[in-house]
Amino acid sequence: MRTIDWDSKKNNIIMIDQTLLPGEYKIIECDTIGSLCEAIKSLRVRGAPALGAAGGFGVALAAYRSNAPTLDVLIDEVAKAGKTIISTRPTAVNLSWGVKRVIRAIEDANNIKEVRVFSLDEAKAIADEDVEKNRELGRYGAALLDDGDTVMTHCNAGRLACVDWGTALGVIRSAREEGKDIKVISCETRPLNQGSRITAWELMEDKIPVTLITDSMSGHVMRKGMVDKVIVGADRITQDAVFNKIGTYTHSVIAKEHGIPFYIAAPVSTFDFEHYEDDIEIELRKPEELMYFGKHQIAPLDVKVYNPAFDATPMENVTAVITENGVFYPPFLIDEVRI
Ligand code: MRU
Repeated sequence: MRTIDWDSKKNNIIMIDQTLLPGEYKIIECDTIGSLCEAIKSLRVRGAPALGAAGGFGVALAAYRSNAPTLDVLIDEVAKAGKTIISTRPTAVNLSWGVKRVIRAIEDANNIKEVRVFSLDEAKAIADEDVEKNRELGRYGAALLDDGDTVMTHCNAGRLACVDWGTALGVIRSAREEGKDIKVISCETRPLNQGSRITAWELMEDKIPVTLITDSMSGHVMRKGMVDKVIVGADRITQDAVFNKIGTYTHSVIAKEHGIPFYIAAPVSTFDFEHYEDDIEIELRKPEELMYFGKHQIAPLDVKVYNPAFDATPMENVTAVITENGVFYPPFLIDEVRI
């Protein structure tokens, strides 16, 4: 199934629980805004484009679950639910983009039934478009890859970070579909290991050759000539920087040092050219993520911990941004991207 979807029989959100992978493949359902927010915060659903769909479906869920007696009360409740959903993860712009897009779609609703229908239609459109856009983005990105390339990636910008297909991994899937022999090096992505748990798993499911390394090995493999290109996703692209999983910036510096192209693959919905790097809040996560590995304690419990989920890579370290509207080489203007 898709990473996230709508169960039309129960009018609930269903999703693959990504915290259980690769050990267990389990579909869970969210039937309240509270359970959806818990799923987003604990990364059961994660990855910028998947969060866009989660935000959209979340607004529809709020409309379906509400017992509001009038249209005005319902609109008010849905708006409040939207704000609660947005507050769960501040850095990935797609989450607020998805919520706001569906809230805009209900502005013309004349009654409670229309709020439900319009919100669900728009949320489903976000999900369907995500798959189409990733396919288009994949085709543009595939043209940048040569037969025989080894691509290094960080975190998971694959089908599980999106509704389907993927951004960075979508480019690799598209290139392989064109018959190019592409191999992948996946960084494990501490502390929550999206690279080893999810990227390695989904590539192996598709029989795409993947080698797992620790994040700190990226300098070694790039210096040894084992990496032809780096492709990562993005959680937000401001005028001057690309926000992505913590560790991305380090890889960009090493890639620059060794003259290795460093590509970002992201849909246009990830662009936030109204802001600059310093305006953006980087999500800080719980110290326990560094103190425990699963249930195993790996640090003194009273140690001071700094655990930002994302970092910012300055645009000068980025070779190009691959989108569904084409490949853009910095510096570029947002009007060129949003054709
Ligand atoms: O904390 P996560 O797992 O949601 O972080 C995800 C990433 O950083 C991805 O690289 C990004 O969302 C791009 S997904 C296409």
